Amino acid sequence: MCGIVGYVGSQSALEVVMAGLKRLEYRGYDSAGVAVLADGGMAAAKRAGKLVNLEKELVDRPLPTGSTGIGHTRWATHGAPNDANAHPHLDNAGRVAVVHNGIIENFAMLRDELQERGHELSSETDTEVVAHLLAEAFSSCADLAEAMRLVCRRLEGAFTLVAVHADEPDVVVGARRNSPLVVGVGEGEAFLASDVAAFIAHTRSAVELGQDQVVELRRDGVTVTGFDGRPAEVRSYNVDWDAAAAEKGGYDYFMLKEIAEQPRAVADTLLGRIDANGSLTLDEVRISASELREMDKVVIVACGTAFHAGMIAKYAIEHWTRIPCEVELASEFRYRDPILDAQTLVIAISQSGETMDTLMALRHAREQGSNVLAICNTNGSTIPRESDAVLYTHAGPEVAVASTKAFLTQLVACYLVALYLGQVRGTKWGDEIRAVIRDLSQIGGAVERVLETMEPVRELARSLADKNTVLFLGRHVGYPVALEGALKLKELAYMHAEGFAAGELKHGPIALIDEDLPVVVVVPSPRGRSVLHDKIVSNIQEIRARGARTIVIAEEGDEAVVPYADHLVRIPVTPTLLQPLVATVPLQVFACELATARGNEVDQPRNLAKSVTVE
Ligand code: M6R
Repeated sequence: MCGIVGYVGSQSALEVVMAGLKRLEYRGYDSAGVAVLADGGMAAAKRAGKLVNLEKELVDRPLPTGSTGIGHTRWATHGAPNDANAHPHLDNAGRVAVVHNGIIENFAMLRDELQERGHELSSETDTEVVAHLLAEAFSSCADLAEAMRLVCRRLEGAFTLVAVHADEPDVVVGARRNSPLVVGVGEGEAFLASDVAAFIAHTRSAVELGQDQVVELRRDGVTVTGFDGRPAEVRSYNVDWDAAAAEKGGYDYFMLKEIAEQPRAVADTLLGRIDANGSLTLDEVRISASELREMDKVVIVACGTAFHAGMIAKYAIEHWTRIPCEVELASEFRYRDPILDAQTLVIAISQSGETMDTLMALRHAREQGSNVLAICNTNGSTIPRESDAVLYTHAGPEVAVASTKAFLTQLVACYLVALYLGQVRGTKWGDEIRAVIRDLSQIGGAVERVLETMEPVRELARSLADKNTVLFLGRHVGYPVALEGALKLKELAYMHAEGFAAGELKHGPIALIDEDLPVVVVVPSPRGRSVLHDKIVSNIQEIRARGARTIVIAEEGDEAVVPYADHLVRIPVTPTLLQPLVATVPLQVFACELATARGNEVDQPRNLAKSVTVE
């Protein structure tokens, strides 16, 4: 939820940390703060609200220059987003500063203990207890890493902690349990962050941290141990994103940039996955072909937009492989005692790789003996690391809270997995697979064409800025697309939006249809599933007959919809199952423009965070 940065080196820690926080602001923006070690002491500043408030504070009251520091941008869990609850939190002597992401579940008990021992706590946060516990532990061992290990052994919950102590001015210590933290290693400097985006401007060399590990950063290197003090193996990797990829690149919002990047992202996700004969080679899928042949069920778990990708994957998996496939919200999954065994392939889809609900769902699945395949966009994140296999989407960093390019690449990855299952199980012939791959490789161009024709969609969105409700309808794979269109509008425009399976209209939702109500309808191709096409055309007529304003998304050449469309958005002709890759794009543009017209923050919508790392 929160963004954390730590630095030790020879640059100004404040500058490095503030630049890192800027890159991580998407993770939370309720308040922000920094602490720098300088002149034998600790200097800290923090402010409620966005990072810009902290920047102003630092101009008004500059901190001394130091080369060791930490910073935090917050998404509140315990305590209101005010100055007092902003991180870092310090001990009473002001010698220790700590920043935290996650939730410390036993903090109330720890706070009572500390208060009994005379500590004065000044915030409502769970984090502050850690600063006090660290100070106590440090006073007995005079070693911040050891103090961190001692404290972590007492904590329950999920947390990333990063701390500095004025008595160890050249050290930053971090710890993680079920919450993200990555280490960057440069020449004579080292970094800690919730996400590599915070330090890729300085180094691409990163180190993975495992669960329940403590890392000690010094200028000359990093040391990793378990919470129990045992040395841990240090696994390094190279970050293949560059700094420019995490910048806005001339667009007003990251979301606009990320929408525009979709043709490239789709193409990149296909890259290297097809051999010279046109067969699929998913090297990262470390579940053997014989194991995949044994699977008798697929269960997909995911949240939000990734869940919608999973819903679409179900159509492809069942159609191409004939294996039953269930799709479940990760947050619901483990609480209903799902039926899982070694013959169940669980697919966990997550852009960030850190979504706690999805992580918990996959852990539950593995405990039941199932194999878990992650579809993920973030190298080295927790979900792929805890899965049996991973297929990375190559969307590049997605910074805007509203997921766009990650969704399209998740779809591509799902199609690849479905085809791969069809390939190893022999339910799809090689030429059939090659035909779908050919279609997939043309999708980037089709998305490009959609993007070139979006001005009328933007104009329409602006004209609807004063509406209260928009409904979205779809059938077959168009139904999850409708859900995704509604989700985008809710999170960005703060409007009431709902997605329905068009067939359900007459079972209740039609009562919502009112004079001039905008209703977006995603129309399946008249080819292939022509029965569905005819049915949805009837739905459009029914809606229009009740006075609603119909916004119809239909493929080029579909003339049957023309008489009933108040606004017609054309999308290129694609095979039925692949249509979501093009049909979703106008809905992303629509939501983004509507949010802009309503004066909303596009990249950082209210109350949301990019990675939801708490349940
Ligand atoms: O990182 P993940 O893909 O696991 O995130 C899942 C959802 O939180 C995410 O898709 C969310 O719904 C997006 N903000 C929607 O645009």
